[in-house]
Amino acid sequence: MDEKEIKVLLIEDNPGDVRLIEDMLSDGANYRFELECAGKLLDGLVLLDRNDYDLVLLDLGLPDSQGLETFFSVYARAAHLPIVALTGIGDETLAVKAVQHGAQDYLVKGHVDSSSLQRALRYAIERKSAEQTLKEYRKKMARAELLASLGTLSATLAHELNQSLTVIGLSIENSLDELLEVSSPEPAMDYLRNSLSEVENAVAIVERFCSFSRKSSGTVFDQVSLQSVGERVVGLLNKSARHQKVIINLKELDKLPSIYVNQNDVEQLFFSLIQNATQASDGKKRSEINISGKVKDDNVELMFADTCGGIEKEKLEKIFEPFFTTKPSGQGTGLGLCIVQQLIAKYGGNIRAESKYGSGTTFYVTLPIHFNAERKGVGSESLKTEYIYS
Ligand SMILES: Nc1ncnc2c1ncn2[C@@H]1O[C@H](COP(=O)(O)OP(=O)(O)OP(=O)(O)O)[C@@H](O)[C@H]1O
Ligand SMILES: [Mg+2]
Repeated sequence: MDEKEIKVLLIEDNPGDVRLIEDMLSDGANYRFELECAGKLLDGLVLLDRNDYDLVLLDLGLPDSQGLETFFSVYARAAHLPIVALTGIGDETLAVKAVQHGAQDYLVKGHVDSSSLQRALRYAIERKSAEQTLKEYRKKMARAELLASLGTLSATLAHELNQSLTVIGLSIENSLDELLEVSSPEPAMDYLRNSLSEVENAVAIVERFCSFSRKSSGTVFDQVSLQSVGERVVGLLNKSARHQKVIINLKELDKLPSIYVNQNDVEQLFFSLIQNATQASDGKKRSEINISGKVKDDNVELMFADTCGGIEKEKLEKIFEPFFTTKPSGQGTGLGLCIVQQLIAKYGGNIRAESKYGSGTTFYVTLPIHFNAERKGVGSESLKTEYIYS
C-alpha cells in the first residue's frame, strides 16, 4: 500500500474533532490520506452512495443518530468497507459492541495521536481486505463441495432411475402397440400417451443429473461446425419455440471457423441457452432468439441474444448457481446453466450474461478455436463469470 492514497470518509459532527483528525492525518509518512467529512449521518450516507472510499471513520454520536444505530446504518450501506468507530471516553462498551457487529476497530477520542491513528486506519484496511479474501475463498470452497457431492449423488441416482424409467417407457410403448389392434382403444391410449410423455420428462431430468457425473466424459474431440450444431439444435427445439411464438435465427454461423471440441458439449450448450430463452417467453408476444458469433483473437465469441423478457437484477446474479430456477416445481432442475458453465470451463472458455428486465437477455460465450485437450487438462479450469445488468 506504499505511496497509496487512502480515501477516508469521516462522519463526525464536532468541528474541533474534525480539525484534530485532519491534522493527525495530514503528515502521513508513506501514505497520503484524503479526507472527506460529513457532519450528519444522512450526509455521510449520501457521500457513501456517490463516492468510493477506502475506509469510514465514524463518530457514533451524531445529531441525527445515536449509538449502535449509527453503526448499523453505515454498515448496511457499506458492509464492504472497513469502519472504524470513534467514541468518547466512557463510551467504550458501545464501541466494543460495534466491533462485535462488524466494525474493524474503535478509537477513543483524545486518546490517539497521529501515528496510532494512521496505523489503526491502515490495519483496518488490511484486515478488512484479508476478511473479504477469506469470505470469497469460503464461498468458492462451498460451491466446489456442493458440486462434488452433487456429482456423486447424481451418478448413483441417475443410474438407478434411468434403468427403471427405460423399462417403464418401453412397457408403455409396447402397450400402445398392442392397443392399436383393439377396436376402440382411444381413452386407454390417451392415458398411456400422457404417461409416456411424463416418463420422457423424467428421463430428461435424469439426463441433467447424469451430466454432472459425466464431467469428463467428453473426451472425443473433433472439428465441429457451429452452423451444423445450431441447425441440429434448432431442428429439435423449433416446434416448442414456435408454440411460444419465438423465432430462432442463426446469423451467419457458417462464416465462423470450426472449433475443436466435443460435439455433445456444444450441442448441450446451444440446447440449454435456446431452451431457456424459449421457456422465458410468455407465449403471447412475438419474440426472437438471434444466435451470432465473431472471431476474437484465438477464440470464437458466440452471442445468444433473446427478446424473451429478460431477468430481474437479483436473479441474474444467481442463474449459474446449481438448483437456481424460477420454473414451477417439477419443471426445471436449475442445473442447465450450471452444467453449461462447467462445460465451458473445461475449455478454459468464459460465459457472461447481460439482461434488461422487461426486454431480453444476451449470453456471451467464448470458446477457443484450437483447444489443446492434453495441455489444458480437461476439467481443471476455474471459471470467471460476469453478470451485467442494464
Ligand atoms: N434467456 C433467459 N431469459 C430469462 N431467464 C432466463 C434465461 N436463461 C436462464 N434464465 C433464468 O435462469 C434460471 C436458471 O436456468 P437453468 O437453465 O440453470 O435452470 P432451469 O432452466 O430453471 O432448469 P432446467 O435447465 O433444468 O430446465 C431459469 O429458471 C430462468 O429463471
Ligand atoms: Mg434451463
